[in-house]
Amino acid sequence: MVRLIADPEEMRRTVHEARQAGKTVGFVPTMGYFHRGHLSLMERARAENDLVVVSIFVNPTQFGPSEDFQEYPRDLERDLAMAEEVGVDLVFHPRVEDMYPQPYRTYVVVEGITETLCGAFRPGHFRGVATVVTKLFHIVPAHRAYFGAKDAQQALVIRKMVEDLNFDIEVVICPTVREKDGLAMSSRNVYLQGEERRAATALYASLCAARELLEKGERRSSVILEEMRRVLEREPLVRPEYVEIVDCIDLKPLERVEGEVLIALAARVGKARLIDNLMLRVDEGGIFLLP
Ligand code: PAJ
Repeated sequence: MVRLIADPEEMRRTVHEARQAGKTVGFVPTMGYFHRGHLSLMERARAENDLVVVSIFVNPTQFGPSEDFQEYPRDLERDLAMAEEVGVDLVFHPRVEDMYPQPYRTYVVVEGITETLCGAFRPGHFRGVATVVTKLFHIVPAHRAYFGAKDAQQALVIRKMVEDLNFDIEVVICPTVREKDGLAMSSRNVYLQGEERRAATALYASLCAARELLEKGERRSSVILEEMRRVLEREPLVRPEYVEIVDCIDLKPLERVEGEVLIALAARVGKARLIDNLMLRVDEGGIFLLP
């Protein structure tokens, strides 16, 4: 049976005792409303650890004032049943007032790599993510934490934070899980209405067009970005926010697509803000999908 814990102190004590007993602990932080992307992280954690902990917390500090914190989909009962199904041991579901004692004053800021891509469109977002993940890492002192490549910038920000702040935790980045037609799974896909759902496949189609050009030997970012934008423009319901090709360390734009690269985009479709990306290693040997 999956055990539900709301109290941060009880959670920390429980994980601490498991560690003392010699168990390895895997942790999957989430905001709930599970889909197969979330479940893939839990399955990976299940395969690699003795104890699997999942957090479900819609974190207010990572939402902007005009964003969807209130509307964000929630269904704890369904999530618990799904977690149970994949063999999760503990679910941490804290109350906002226990995570953010008022007046709350302490935040974690990762510089530079949080100001590009999604950071440029969601000021304060990664400060909220880094802060809540820091808190969660203290409450759930795990050996490994699992993040999805779907949110590549987030995973790279957390990995850098773990390095910079000496967290004793291994960050494991897992592949993006997609619908049959290529749309990356996301809790926000429920916002898509009617025609918008089909139009949303343009995001992945645009990434596939980039990959095809790379496979033909094209390395100029300008040429690849132009083609990606063309694919997106075919769908009037898709309103792109950014389309970029950056390196995986500094997230700085690349003129040539070489080494470990992140091809990333964000677009609005109806009331949904969707993101997708390809993380690739491009060298003489060919093109390899990361992670
Ligand atoms: P959430 O959007 O619920 O995502 C939880 C984890 O699932 C993240 O690591 C995310 O990258 C991963 N994920 C989402 N969709 C995926 C997909 N299609 N394939 C693979 N993995 C996928 O990301 C957050 O919550 C929050 O920002 C959080 C890290 C919990 C901090 O509040």
